[in-house]
Amino acid sequence: MNYRATYPPGNGSGRGGNSSNFYARRPQPQPQPQPQPQPQQQFVQGNLSASQHGQQLQQQQRWLRRNEIENDSGNREEVGGVQSYGINHSIQDWKSHLNIPAPDTRYQTEDVTATKGNEFEDYFLKRELLMGIYEKGFESPSPIQEESIPIALTGRDILARAKNGTGKTAAFCIPALEKIDQAKNAIQVVILVPTRELALQTSQVCKELGKYLKIQVMVTTGGTSLKDDIMRLYQPVHLVVGTPGRILDLVRKDICVLKDCSMLIVDEADKLLSPEFQPSIEQLIGFLPAKRQILLFSATFPVTVKGFKDRYLSKPFTINLMDELTLKGITHYYAFVEERQKVHCLNTLFSKLQINQSIIFCNSVNRVELLAKKITELGYSCFYIHAKMLQDHRNRVFHDFRNGACRNLVCTDLFTRGIDIQAVNVVINFDFPKNSETYLHRVGRSGRYGHLGLAVNLITYEDRFDLYRIEQELAAEIKQIPPQIDQAIYCR
Ligand SMILES: Nc1ncnc2c1ncn2[C@@H]1O[C@H](COP(=O)(O)OP(=O)(O)OP(=O)(O)O)[C@@H](O)[C@H]1O
Ligand SMILES: [Mg+2]
Repeated sequence: MNYRATYPPGNGSGRGGNSSNFYARRPQPQPQPQPQPQPQQQFVQGNLSASQHGQQLQQQQRWLRRNEIENDSGNREEVGGVQSYGINHSIQDWKSHLNIPAPDTRYQTEDVTATKGNEFEDYFLKRELLMGIYEKGFESPSPIQEESIPIALTGRDILARAKNGTGKTAAFCIPALEKIDQAKNAIQVVILVPTRELALQTSQVCKELGKYLKIQVMVTTGGTSLKDDIMRLYQPVHLVVGTPGRILDLVRKDICVLKDCSMLIVDEADKLLSPEFQPSIEQLIGFLPAKRQILLFSATFPVTVKGFKDRYLSKPFTINLMDELTLKGITHYYAFVEERQKVHCLNTLFSKLQINQSIIFCNSVNRVELLAKKITELGYSCFYIHAKMLQDHRNRVFHDFRNGACRNLVCTDLFTRGIDIQAVNVVINFDFPKNSETYLHRVGRSGRYGHLGLAVNLITYEDRFDLYRIEQELAAEIKQIPPQIDQAIYCR
């Protein structure tokens, strides 16, 4: 089967009958032992003393003194070692020449609007960086950006937790780009991510934000030619984004030199500190200079991260913006089905929902391919992606889906973390995930940057206890799917 097929004319309108059987109620789970401690709620706190807290607040306040140093002449001033430009009349001049995208007028939730009211200029960033930020369409920092940018600029280690889609990438890329010395021909920042697609996406964000800087960004992952990476490293590189295995390979070969790399950023940190990746991360840290800054970011931090934090981070500043765990803009439903009814149920969903773009998760490579074939046979277009595909194909699917070439994408957990496609408003768990971290990250592929989204879970009899447990762990209600879903809850 071809992994790409085209939508038939009039896509979105369903084929096949409207089934009502997927609306059947799930059986109530039998009384079970008390749920285990909730991993999301075991977030590792920094155990800061009151005086440390005070120091941190002072550091933050330093960045909020914009008004104190503003002057009418537009001259450059030095604040805390970071160069700034006067920002009264001159800022308006350079801003008026930028190519700023039209504002996003869609509804946004408090997950991104509940800010302190800071502006990007408050952080005294290089003007060229501010230009990239505004041209990317960012008007003001999100809550996680407000918390992390000023602290990261001071050089402190950070352990940060914030909800999916609330802007963690820029929260670490902006300080990284600010701190790089463009005149110095050396790798100064490494950003580690768990998947190749996320590496491509993150390097693209760095390039866009750094569009007006002279910073050389390199992306390096498995599945690509090692020789090309070696050739690339003969040229200047300031910032490397990649997956741990390939970077470690290049470092061990002495081709990627990290002796001047003073900042290591670990995105999706809980995933990268799982047994699969942690040994590589620890080995990589061994190649960094003694004076280095480590930033850990994720939406989920199980207690297992604590050991790593205690060993490698020095007095980390802890940020936890997850007083509740789920995104405010996402409505969660379940449909109780038998395994053999799942495709029929999906067909009904396609016919009833207003899907802008959807991501449909299966629990195995085999099931991804089978489902994609079924969806195509039903007359809907879909792409599929999983880790066993050739990297070239993966890149093409990712690129084309992002550009809206197809409405539905069937995938494994390869796309669970970090992938940011603004047009996705519906996530379907064709197969229900086994743990609440995976559930949270999967459904977080919709509702990006505080927008609205819908998560629909197909639940079989075997899944009923997992559904119950995940609801408990996330303190979220997953409701039975109603016969009609109001478009206003996921399409505004
Ligand atoms: N300050 C901002 N203003 C407007 N949009 C923003 C801002 N910061 C980030 N965004 C946009 O929000 C979207 C989500 O950002 P990002 O991918 O960094 O989220 P995240 O917190 O890393 O999510 P995840 O946990 O899923 O990885 C992106 O499309 C990004 O361009
Ligand atoms: Mg992210």
